[in-house]
Amino acid sequence: MKRVYVTKRIPGLDRLAGHDVRVWEGDGPVPDQVLREEVRDVEGLLCMLTDRIGDDLLANATHLEVVSQMAVGVDNIDIGACARAGVIVGHTPDVLTETVADSAWALLGSIVRRLPEGEREVRAGEWGPWEVFHLAGGDLHRTTLGIVGMGRIGQAVARRAAGFDMEVIYTSPSVQPAAEARRVDLFELLDRADHVVLCTRLDESTRGLIGAEELTRMKPTSYLVNIARGPIVDTDALVTALRNREIAGAALDVTDPEPLPADHPLLKLDNCLVVPHIGSASLRTRNEMARLAIDNLLAGLEGRELPAKYDACR
Ligand code: DGY
Repeated sequence: MKRVYVTKRIPGLDRLAGHDVRVWEGDGPVPDQVLREEVRDVEGLLCMLTDRIGDDLLANATHLEVVSQMAVGVDNIDIGACARAGVIVGHTPDVLTETVADSAWALLGSIVRRLPEGEREVRAGEWGPWEVFHLAGGDLHRTTLGIVGMGRIGQAVARRAAGFDMEVIYTSPSVQPAAEARRVDLFELLDRADHVVLCTRLDESTRGLIGAEELTRMKPTSYLVNIARGPIVDTDALVTALRNREIAGAALDVTDPEPLPADHPLLKLDNCLVVPHIGSASLRTRNEMARLAIDNLLAGLEGRELPAKYDACR
């Protein structure tokens, strides 16, 4: 029997019945201080993307063998510190790929066709007589889609573009097999794309990747979608670009900071759509993520190969 701490009650925890399991039952994320105390004696930690796992926490967790995160992105976990401490890290790739790609298209379609503006107008009782160019937006079909980061999710986003008869261009540090897509550098992508979708992981090479200079390279008719991580975009630069109509609009599943305060300047802009980090939030996918996170945890506790061990090189 091993000791386990779980930072959110998720489906399937009964599968850990053979172990000594404690679960954070409070509202919201577990506070850092509570987590630091709870990991003192555990061999396994099942955590969420809101939990920070770094040197300071690991120094307290001298029995820890495995960290299993219920998310594909692990930017909240210091992977180097885990490696130094001999702690294996698992995450939940693949099971969420298609759902996040669906979400990228939902966001893109919504902002390009100005659905949030239309919906706000109807709810406010401001639906007036039909007008020729009222809420006329951009198009998806026969445009150029630029994908930043052609990993699993980027490729799933690209596959869907065929249905819209789009040209797909992409950036990627390693050449990935992407049918009907052409690899370009970031500036060419920003210059040419009508829609830019960020699908890259957050690390030191991508933090602030889209700043004032990059936004200026985009066309005034272009749209930006972020389904990756908020800090990939410089938030202040984005506010300026949207306010000055340097780009046509942005749809964000992720922001920096998160959660975004209700009075944040992004939320005052008509050409910006923000949703609260729900890219993988379909019922089926969240259940699958929970299952895989528990599979990883059990494998780590039992000394088996993790079904989805985090590999920084992928
Ligand atoms: C992830 O898994 O990294 C997403 O951002 C949350 O589903």
